[in-house]
Amino acid sequence: MTDHYVRIFDTTLRDGEQSPGATLTSPEKLEIARGLARLGVDVIEAGFPAASPDDLEAVRRIAQEVGNSEINGRTPIICGLARAAKRDIDKAWEAVSPARHPRIHTFLATSEIHMQYKLKMTREQVLEKVREMVAYAHSLCPDIEFSPEDAGRSDPQFLYTVLGEAIRAGATTLNIPDTVGYTTPDEFGELIRGIIANTPGIENCVVSVHCHDDLGLATANSLAGIRAGARQAEVTINGIGERAGNTSLEEVVMALHTRHPVYHLDTGIDTTQLMRLSRMVSNYTGIVVQPNKAIVGANAFAHEAGIHQDGILKNQQTYEIMRPETVGVNQSQLVLGKHSGRHAFKTRLQDLGYELNEEDLEKMFARFKDLADKKKTITNADLEALVSDELLQHQ
Ligand code: KIV
Ligand code: ZN
Repeated sequence: MTDHYVRIFDTTLRDGEQSPGATLTSPEKLEIARGLARLGVDVIEAGFPAASPDDLEAVRRIAQEVGNSEINGRTPIICGLARAAKRDIDKAWEAVSPARHPRIHTFLATSEIHMQYKLKMTREQVLEKVREMVAYAHSLCPDIEFSPEDAGRSDPQFLYTVLGEAIRAGATTLNIPDTVGYTTPDEFGELIRGIIANTPGIENCVVSVHCHDDLGLATANSLAGIRAGARQAEVTINGIGERAGNTSLEEVVMALHTRHPVYHLDTGIDTTQLMRLSRMVSNYTGIVVQPNKAIVGANAFAHEAGIHQDGILKNQQTYEIMRPETVGVNQSQLVLGKHSGRHAFKTRLQDLGYELNEEDLEKMFARFKDLADKKKTITNADLEALVSDELLQHQ
């Protein structure tokens, strides 16, 4: 793997499923995991096996089936989350061990507020627990990821020490979570830069970013972390997850793809699968995708303003920075409404098989504008009704 490759670690089935109301059944999880493998993600975090026997069983099935299948010559790593506790680590190992490439992901909080109030542990106790539990996980599984929870609000000096100890105990991926979406892109980029510069042994590890979207900055923070040297991004389909959600997979992948000349970084994602996966996850979780959501929202490739529609009809790149087919959308949509212009109106009538002369076109356009003032969007059926009405009046 070159230094220009960003691993995509999908946590839709773990952090994503932590979205309020997003419970998935085991068959749904398996179907999503298959879709993620087809999409080309490098790691599937399939769940939190210690959470319930059902969770453990679902992760185990994914490990058995998806973790041993080969798609386009690749088999994804199957990962299970575990708190820094023996019982959790044992359950995670039981669940992921059938996979060809299993991973245990263990975590412990490092911010003062979490250590003092949630864990009721001192820094020394946290350090000792990290050493002990990472080493224990590593005695079971060669591929260990460690996350200092709430890293975004942790003392960087303490983070360097904790991460250094995790590496000495066997961690090979160091994931840096902005658990509560508190940081800004400048700060998060600096945090990653500082970790890479100051953590002993980090040069042999993969640094990962895991951002939450409480301030709407998850994608920007992840990209800032990647620019600072992180080579794994933890993401979810449609950005679902705790509270305001996680970084959205499709946004990070398409930013790296569309702005390749800026980042010079690649992923293994087949971007044409993005829309399909987005719909599947939305259907199974019941979490609707907002229409203006970047990349996969219903309006992401829809144009209503006359000036924009005219531009698109002349050259798509006037108002589109990505081709819709690149993300699995058939074509851009010109939505007819009160902001639409003659060009789009005429083109749609032609698509429907109506060739009108200039005079009729003007009359029809005026009637269309009247209707558009009363109705949000004008459908093909509305247009056909307008045309037949006009034709009737001619008879
Ligand atoms: O947000 C977070 O801190 C997490 C960790 C478990 C990685 O999801
Ligand atoms: Zn998280």
